[in-house]
Amino acid sequence: MASSFLKLLLFVLTTLCLIVELALAKHAGITRRYKFDIKMQNVTRLCQTKSIVTVNGQLPGPTIIAREGDRVIVNVVNHVQYNVSIHWHGIRQLRSGWADGPAYITQCPIQTGQSYVYNFTVTGQRGTLFWHAHISWLRVTVHGAIVILPKRGVPYPFPQPYKEVPIIFGEWWKADTERIISQAQQTGGAPNISDAYTINGLQGPLYNCSAKDTLKLKVKPGKTYLLRLINAALNDELFFSIANHNLTVVEADAVYVKPFKTNTVLITPGQTTNVLLKTKKHHPNATFLMAARPYATGPASFDNSTTAGILEYHNPSNKTRKIKNFPLLRPLLPLFNDTTFATKFVNKIRSLANSKFPAKVPQTVDRHFFFTIGLGLSPCTNQNQTCQGPNNTMLAASVNNVSFVMPSTALLQAHFFNKSKGVYTTDFPTNPPFKFNYTGTPPTNIIVTSSTKLAVLPFNTKVELVMQDTSIIGAESHPLHLHGFNFFVVGQGFGNYNPNTDPAKFNLVDPAERNTVGVPSGGWVAIRFLADNPGVWFMHCHLEVHTSWGLKMAWIVMDGKRQNQKLPPPPSDLPQC
Ligand code: C2O
Ligand code: CU
Repeated sequence: MASSFLKLLLFVLTTLCLIVELALAKHAGITRRYKFDIKMQNVTRLCQTKSIVTVNGQLPGPTIIAREGDRVIVNVVNHVQYNVSIHWHGIRQLRSGWADGPAYITQCPIQTGQSYVYNFTVTGQRGTLFWHAHISWLRVTVHGAIVILPKRGVPYPFPQPYKEVPIIFGEWWKADTERIISQAQQTGGAPNISDAYTINGLQGPLYNCSAKDTLKLKVKPGKTYLLRLINAALNDELFFSIANHNLTVVEADAVYVKPFKTNTVLITPGQTTNVLLKTKKHHPNATFLMAARPYATGPASFDNSTTAGILEYHNPSNKTRKIKNFPLLRPLLPLFNDTTFATKFVNKIRSLANSKFPAKVPQTVDRHFFFTIGLGLSPCTNQNQTCQGPNNTMLAASVNNVSFVMPSTALLQAHFFNKSKGVYTTDFPTNPPFKFNYTGTPPTNIIVTSSTKLAVLPFNTKVELVMQDTSIIGAESHPLHLHGFNFFVVGQGFGNYNPNTDPAKFNLVDPAERNTVGVPSGGWVAIRFLADNPGVWFMHCHLEVHTSWGLKMAWIVMDGKRQNQKLPPPPSDLPQC
């Protein structure tokens, strides 16, 4: 009698809980508020002290945590001598383009002593993204994780991990990076390469004077950990691996993927990847390096060093051996130019494409674009001095031979208020200005043109964009990032794209859905997206050095007819130039 009553009570209670959960899940999310104080901070690394730009004095900066459906409000206050803006990389910003953040694209920068409140809702996304400064090279130390949890009561499509840990890769220069890039911009030469890579701001034991700055990840045996990998480095794609452990990739760029096992992850700047790490059943009597080093394909020199953290199992109390005496095992990482590995890895990333998480790949195309992506040269503008590019030129980079010139006012404002005159033109070329063997011997004239051209898309255009790497100066993998959208990676290949034969091989069923994709070195990639988000959307190489050289452009997506297809007016505190 008593026991059946208890059972009934239990049943009623669980049903009630379920109803509440469901109600909450359906209910619009909550509002999460953050304050970002941009300020200088002294740090000593590799035996040298320098002053860096930070958020709240932290490196990496604070993690933003939200659930799908939540509103995020971040008050950014600029206390440093530099102009600042913050970008929420990968957040779709549906009809909230004013909060996207790239300086001179969607907003004027926040000037010293000023502030701006970023206000956006996380819609239809869950997983890992990141935020970073989006002006000059300040991203080097101004970045942090964005963790988007599923709606309350909605499980992951994989086993619930025991713990979740952000792992942010970064890049470190002993010298002042703002000085490095401004000098390079003046002389036209290549900026100095970094001195180290970092994991969560720490260089690790493989650099001189750095052992004390090592990330230690303490784990328990027989558990599953979710590592939220983020590549916030400026200029380098990275391989990452943990000695003697497999990783299971479950998500990329805040989209779930079909799980697959790998020893090594390839992650380009701008990409995020969630992996499950299953620890050994029993204490392994060893510690393990987790290491990252570059995947580099380009013609220029690069930082060929390795950053590492340590995976350490909790020492069971009955063990007398000390951790110190355990062997430290090192992972075997691919060689820096292992394009075979890179290609295999990238091809494994597939959308879940099931009923809960469908892949909404545009099956037809309204507008085709073909962009050449690569390096080039521009005439020397260094007054009364010679330039450091080849034959007294300046290094440059371009899309369809256009090296993008940053305007001095925000494009989105100019567009919204119909004041484009003298700011931008809308004639961004749909195809390269002249045909050549893109991946063969380059043409003799490799001088780029410089201008601020945009491409205009009517609302809801289904776009197919093929990006073709060129071998001008040298073929190189370029991680292209598109703001405001996820796109589907429907095809890729090496050599020149063939519009007659390649489309037949496109994957329109379960292609990777992401916001940053590597254009293969000496190859091409085809993406599709639906232009359902009105605004001005930046697209650029996420290797900051290439962005500085002009490998960037922007799309204007026009308003739709309905009221909920229009971009609202800007907030009153939108910074002025
Ligand atoms: Cu992560 Cu336009 O950038
Ligand atoms: Cu690039």
